[in-house]
Amino acid sequence: MSASSTKPVVRISDLHKSFADQVVLDGLNLEVQAGECLGIMGGSGTGKSVALRHVIGLMQPDSGRVEVFGREVAGLSANELRALRRRVGYVFQEGALVGWMTVEDNLALPLRERGKLSEPQIAERVAEALETVHVVGAGQKFPSEISGGMKKRVSIARALITKPELVLYDEPNAGLDPEISRSINALMREVSEKLGVTSLVVEHRVECLRRVADRVLFIHEGKALVNDITASFFQPSHPRLMAFLGHEQE
Ligand SMILES: Nc1ncnc2c1ncn2[C@@H]1O[C@H](COP(=O)(O)OP(=O)(O)OP(=O)(O)O)[C@@H](O)[C@H]1O
Ligand SMILES: [Mg+2]
Repeated sequence: MSASSTKPVVRISDLHKSFADQVVLDGLNLEVQAGECLGIMGGSGTGKSVALRHVIGLMQPDSGRVEVFGREVAGLSANELRALRRRVGYVFQEGALVGWMTVEDNLALPLRERGKLSEPQIAERVAEALETVHVVGAGQKFPSEISGGMKKRVSIARALITKPELVLYDEPNAGLDPEISRSINALMREVSEKLGVTSLVVEHRVECLRRVADRVLFIHEGKALVNDITASFFQPSHPRLMAFLGHEQE
Protein backbone atom coordinates (compact mmCIF):
# COMPACT_ATOMS: atom_id res chain seq x y z
CA MET A 1 0.00 0.00 0.00
CA SER A 2 1.33 3.41 -0.90
CA ALA A 3 2.81 5.57 1.81
CA SER A 4 2.07 8.70 -0.22
CA SER A 5 1.10 11.71 1.84
CA THR A 6 -1.55 12.84 -0.65
CA LYS A 7 -5.02 11.63 0.18
CA PRO A 8 -6.20 8.65 -1.85
CA VAL A 9 -9.17 9.24 -4.16
CA VAL A 10 -10.83 6.12 -2.73
CA ARG A 11 -10.11 4.61 0.65
CA ILE A 12 -12.05 1.63 1.95
CA SER A 13 -11.21 0.68 5.53
CA ASP A 14 -12.37 -2.47 7.27
CA LEU A 15 -15.58 -2.65 5.25
CA HIS A 16 -18.09 -5.25 6.37
CA LYS A 17 -21.26 -6.06 4.44
CA SER A 18 -23.64 -8.99 4.87
CA PHE A 19 -26.98 -9.86 3.33
CA ALA A 20 -29.08 -11.71 5.92
CA ASP A 21 -26.67 -14.39 7.17
CA GLN A 22 -24.40 -14.24 4.11
CA VAL A 23 -21.16 -12.43 4.87
CA VAL A 24 -19.93 -10.84 1.64
CA LEU A 25 -17.32 -8.27 2.67
CA ASP A 26 -15.47 -9.13 5.86
CA GLY A 27 -12.94 -6.39 6.51
CA LEU A 28 -12.08 -5.15 3.01
CA ASN A 29 -9.29 -2.57 2.77
CA LEU A 30 -8.17 -0.78 -0.36
CA GLU A 31 -6.83 2.54 -1.56
CA VAL A 32 -6.69 4.12 -4.99
CA GLN A 33 -4.36 7.07 -5.42
CA ALA A 34 -5.02 9.96 -7.81
CA GLY A 35 -4.29 8.94 -11.40
CA GLU A 36 -3.86 5.30 -10.47
CA CYS A 37 -5.69 2.38 -12.07
CA LEU A 38 -6.50 -0.35 -9.55
CA GLY A 39 -7.68 -3.73 -10.82
CA ILE A 40 -9.91 -5.89 -8.66
CA MET A 41 -10.00 -9.62 -9.23
CA GLY A 42 -11.86 -12.35 -7.41
CA GLY A 43 -14.21 -15.23 -7.96
CA SER A 44 -17.84 -14.75 -8.93
CA GLY A 45 -19.92 -13.65 -5.97
CA THR A 46 -16.98 -12.49 -3.85
CA GLY A 47 -18.41 -8.98 -3.53
CA LYS A 48 -16.60 -7.00 -6.22
CA SER A 49 -19.73 -5.27 -7.51
CA VAL A 50 -20.91 -4.80 -3.92
CA ALA A 51 -17.64 -3.02 -3.12
CA LEU A 52 -18.04 -0.69 -6.14
CA ARG A 53 -21.61 0.16 -5.14
CA HIS A 54 -20.35 1.41 -1.79
CA VAL A 55 -18.06 3.87 -3.54
CA ILE A 56 -20.96 5.91 -4.89
CA GLY A 57 -23.28 5.32 -1.96
CA LEU A 58 -25.63 2.86 -3.68
CA MET A 59 -24.99 0.61 -0.65
CA GLN A 60 -24.24 1.45 2.96
CA PRO A 61 -21.58 -0.35 5.02
CA ASP A 62 -22.64 -2.50 7.97
CA SER A 63 -19.41 -1.25 9.51
CA GLY A 64 -16.16 0.29 8.34
CA ARG A 65 -15.49 3.41 6.29
CA VAL A 66 -15.68 4.29 2.63
CA GLU A 67 -14.04 7.62 1.79
CA VAL A 68 -14.11 9.14 -1.68
CA PHE A 69 -12.37 12.42 -2.54
CA GLY A 70 -11.47 12.66 1.13
CA ARG A 71 -15.05 12.52 2.45
CA GLU A 72 -16.82 9.65 4.15
CA VAL A 73 -19.66 8.63 1.82
CA ALA A 74 -22.00 7.59 4.66
CA GLY A 75 -21.79 11.10 6.17
CA LEU A 76 -22.88 12.93 3.01
CA SER A 77 -26.22 14.71 2.64
CA ALA A 78 -28.41 13.88 -0.36
CA ASN A 79 -27.04 16.96 -2.18
CA GLU A 80 -23.45 16.10 -1.37
CA LEU A 81 -23.98 12.54 -2.56
CA ARG A 82 -25.37 13.84 -5.84
CA ALA A 83 -22.33 16.10 -6.17
CA LEU A 84 -20.03 13.14 -5.54
CA ARG A 85 -21.80 11.03 -8.17
CA ARG A 86 -21.33 13.84 -10.68
CA ARG A 87 -17.58 13.43 -10.25
CA VAL A 88 -17.70 9.66 -10.84
CA GLY A 89 -18.32 7.66 -14.03
CA TYR A 90 -19.81 4.19 -13.54
CA VAL A 91 -19.71 1.49 -16.22
CA PHE A 92 -22.28 -0.95 -14.92
CA GLN A 93 -21.74 -4.66 -15.36
CA GLU A 94 -25.04 -4.86 -17.27
CA GLY A 95 -24.25 -1.87 -19.48
CA ALA A 96 -27.50 -0.19 -18.44
CA LEU A 97 -28.21 1.86 -21.57
CA VAL A 98 -31.75 3.20 -21.88
CA GLY A 99 -33.35 0.96 -24.51
CA TRP A 100 -35.84 3.44 -25.92
CA MET A 101 -33.29 6.21 -26.45
CA THR A 102 -30.84 6.45 -29.33
CA VAL A 103 -27.13 6.11 -28.66
CA GLU A 104 -26.81 9.90 -28.95
CA ASP A 105 -29.59 10.53 -26.47
CA ASN A 106 -28.12 7.98 -24.05
CA LEU A 107 -24.85 9.88 -24.16
CA ALA A 108 -26.51 13.26 -23.86
CA LEU A 109 -28.62 12.17 -20.89
CA PRO A 110 -26.12 12.87 -18.08
CA LEU A 111 -25.28 16.24 -19.65
CA ARG A 112 -28.93 17.22 -20.04
CA GLU A 113 -29.61 16.21 -16.44
CA ARG A 114 -26.91 18.61 -15.38
CA GLY A 115 -28.41 21.43 -17.41
CA LYS A 116 -25.15 23.35 -17.79
CA LEU A 117 -24.52 23.00 -21.52
CA SER A 118 -26.57 24.21 -24.48
CA GLU A 119 -27.91 21.66 -26.99
CA PRO A 120 -25.22 22.54 -29.59
CA GLN A 121 -22.55 22.11 -26.90
CA ILE A 122 -24.06 18.76 -25.91
CA ALA A 123 -24.12 17.63 -29.55
CA GLU A 124 -20.45 18.51 -29.87
CA ARG A 125 -19.56 16.62 -26.68
CA VAL A 126 -21.56 13.57 -27.84
CA ALA A 127 -19.80 13.52 -31.21
CA GLU A 128 -16.45 13.79 -29.45
CA ALA A 129 -17.34 10.90 -27.10
CA LEU A 130 -18.41 8.66 -29.99
CA GLU A 131 -15.10 9.36 -31.64
CA THR A 132 -13.14 8.58 -28.47
CA VAL A 133 -14.70 5.11 -28.20
CA HIS A 134 -14.63 4.58 -31.98
CA VAL A 135 -18.38 4.24 -32.43
CA VAL A 136 -18.76 7.01 -35.00
CA GLY A 137 -21.87 6.66 -37.17
CA ALA A 138 -24.02 4.77 -34.67
CA GLY A 139 -25.46 7.82 -32.92
CA GLN A 140 -28.94 7.49 -34.38
CA LYS A 141 -29.25 3.79 -33.59
CA PHE A 142 -30.98 2.26 -30.61
CA PRO A 143 -29.11 -0.03 -28.19
CA SER A 144 -30.93 -3.06 -29.62
CA GLU A 145 -29.53 -2.21 -33.06
CA ILE A 146 -25.86 -2.27 -32.11
CA SER A 147 -23.59 -5.16 -31.13
CA GLY A 148 -22.64 -6.12 -27.57
CA GLY A 149 -19.17 -4.69 -28.04
CA MET A 150 -20.56 -1.39 -29.28
CA LYS A 151 -22.98 -1.25 -26.35
CA LYS A 152 -20.06 -1.65 -23.97
CA ARG A 153 -18.21 1.14 -25.76
CA VAL A 154 -21.23 3.40 -25.60
CA SER A 155 -21.60 2.63 -21.85
CA ILE A 156 -17.97 3.62 -21.39
CA ALA A 157 -18.52 6.79 -23.43
CA ARG A 158 -21.51 7.65 -21.28
CA ALA A 159 -19.48 7.16 -18.11
CA LEU A 160 -16.75 9.45 -19.48
CA ILE A 161 -18.88 12.14 -21.10
CA THR A 162 -19.14 14.30 -18.00
CA LYS A 163 -15.33 14.23 -17.63
CA PRO A 164 -15.33 12.43 -14.29
CA GLU A 165 -12.33 12.41 -12.00
CA LEU A 166 -12.91 8.77 -11.06
CA VAL A 167 -14.26 5.94 -13.24
CA LEU A 168 -15.53 2.61 -11.93
CA TYR A 169 -15.59 -0.17 -14.52
CA ASP A 170 -17.49 -3.32 -13.56
CA GLU A 171 -16.32 -6.12 -15.87
CA PRO A 172 -16.00 -3.97 -18.97
CA ASN A 173 -14.89 -6.98 -21.03
CA ALA A 174 -17.63 -9.42 -20.08
CA GLY A 175 -19.10 -11.09 -23.14
CA LEU A 176 -16.77 -9.42 -25.63
CA ASP A 177 -14.58 -11.16 -28.21
CA PRO A 178 -10.79 -10.91 -27.79
CA GLU A 179 -10.35 -8.25 -30.44
CA ILE A 180 -12.97 -5.93 -29.00
CA SER A 181 -11.63 -6.62 -25.51
CA ARG A 182 -8.23 -5.45 -26.60
CA SER A 183 -9.61 -2.21 -27.95
CA ILE A 184 -11.64 -1.65 -24.77
CA ASN A 185 -8.49 -2.27 -22.73
CA ALA A 186 -6.56 0.20 -24.85
CA LEU A 187 -9.32 2.73 -24.34
CA MET A 188 -9.27 2.31 -20.55
CA ARG A 189 -5.50 2.67 -20.55
CA GLU A 190 -5.78 5.81 -22.67
CA VAL A 191 -8.33 7.34 -20.32
CA SER A 192 -6.13 6.56 -17.37
CA GLU A 193 -2.84 7.71 -18.90
CA LYS A 194 -3.79 10.56 -21.22
CA LEU A 195 -6.58 12.06 -19.17
CA GLY A 196 -5.11 11.16 -15.77
CA VAL A 197 -8.46 9.77 -14.63
CA THR A 198 -8.35 7.62 -11.50
CA SER A 199 -9.81 4.20 -12.27
CA LEU A 200 -11.07 1.11 -10.54
CA VAL A 201 -11.52 -1.91 -12.83
CA VAL A 202 -13.28 -5.07 -11.72
CA GLU A 203 -12.21 -7.76 -14.14
CA HIS A 204 -11.52 -11.50 -14.29
CA ARG A 205 -9.35 -11.46 -17.37
CA VAL A 206 -5.64 -11.59 -16.78
CA GLU A 207 -4.92 -10.05 -20.16
CA CYS A 208 -7.04 -7.02 -19.38
CA LEU A 209 -5.52 -6.27 -16.01
CA ARG A 210 -1.99 -6.82 -17.27
CA ARG A 211 -2.54 -4.09 -19.82
CA VAL A 212 -4.68 -1.72 -17.87
CA ALA A 213 -3.96 -1.85 -14.14
CA ASP A 214 -1.08 -0.34 -12.19
CA ARG A 215 -1.86 -2.54 -9.24
CA VAL A 216 -4.18 -5.51 -8.73
CA LEU A 217 -6.08 -6.62 -5.69
CA PHE A 218 -7.47 -10.11 -5.19
CA ILE A 219 -10.60 -10.40 -3.06
CA HIS A 220 -11.06 -13.68 -1.27
CA GLU A 221 -13.46 -14.43 1.59
CA GLY A 222 -14.43 -10.79 1.84
CA LYS A 223 -10.92 -9.40 2.22
CA ALA A 224 -8.10 -8.18 0.03
CA LEU A 225 -5.94 -11.30 0.11
CA VAL A 226 -3.27 -10.01 -2.28
CA ASN A 227 -2.65 -6.38 -3.25
CA ASP A 228 0.32 -5.99 -5.50
CA ILE A 229 1.77 -4.08 -8.41
CA THR A 230 0.61 -5.70 -11.64
CA ALA A 231 3.78 -7.51 -12.69
CA SER A 232 4.32 -9.21 -9.33
CA PHE A 233 0.61 -9.92 -8.95
CA PHE A 234 0.78 -12.20 -11.96
CA GLN A 235 3.75 -14.10 -10.56
CA PRO A 236 2.02 -14.90 -7.32
CA SER A 237 3.29 -16.83 -4.36
CA HIS A 238 -0.06 -17.06 -2.61
CA PRO A 239 -1.55 -20.53 -3.19
CA ARG A 240 -5.14 -19.29 -3.42
CA LEU A 241 -4.27 -16.71 -6.07
CA MET A 242 -2.13 -19.24 -7.96
CA ALA A 243 -5.09 -21.60 -8.07
CA PHE A 244 -7.37 -18.83 -9.30
CA LEU A 245 -5.00 -17.71 -12.05
CA GLY A 246 -4.30 -21.32 -13.02
CA HIS A 247 -7.96 -21.82 -13.84
CA GLU A 248 -8.00 -18.46 -15.64
CA GLN A 249 -5.20 -19.34 -18.00
CA GLU A 250 -6.54 -22.70 -19.10
N1 LIG B 1 -28.81 -6.30 -2.91
C1 LIG B 1 -28.44 -7.53 -2.56
N2 LIG B 1 -29.22 -8.28 -1.76
C2 LIG B 1 -28.85 -9.53 -1.38
N3 LIG B 1 -27.70 -10.11 -1.76
C3 LIG B 1 -26.89 -9.42 -2.58
C4 LIG B 1 -27.21 -8.10 -3.02
N4 LIG B 1 -26.21 -7.66 -3.80
C5 LIG B 1 -25.32 -8.66 -3.84
N5 LIG B 1 -25.71 -9.71 -3.12
C6 LIG B 1 -24.96 -10.97 -2.93
O1 LIG B 1 -23.64 -10.64 -2.56
C7 LIG B 1 -22.71 -11.53 -3.17
C8 LIG B 1 -21.66 -10.73 -3.92
O2 LIG B 1 -22.27 -10.13 -5.05
P1 LIG B 1 -21.47 -9.29 -6.13
O3 LIG B 1 -22.45 -8.89 -7.15
O4 LIG B 1 -20.68 -8.24 -5.48
O5 LIG B 1 -20.48 -10.40 -6.70
P2 LIG B 1 -19.30 -10.18 -7.73
O6 LIG B 1 -18.01 -10.43 -7.02
O7 LIG B 1 -19.46 -8.89 -8.42
O8 LIG B 1 -19.54 -11.41 -8.74
P3 LIG B 1 -19.48 -11.48 -10.37
O9 LIG B 1 -18.03 -11.65 -10.71
O10 LIG B 1 -20.27 -12.70 -10.69
O11 LIG B 1 -20.08 -10.23 -10.91
C9 LIG B 1 -23.53 -12.46 -4.05
O12 LIG B 1 -23.73 -13.68 -3.36
C10 LIG B 1 -24.84 -11.74 -4.23
O13 LIG B 1 -25.90 -12.63 -4.38
MG1 LIG C 1 -20.07 -8.30 -10.28
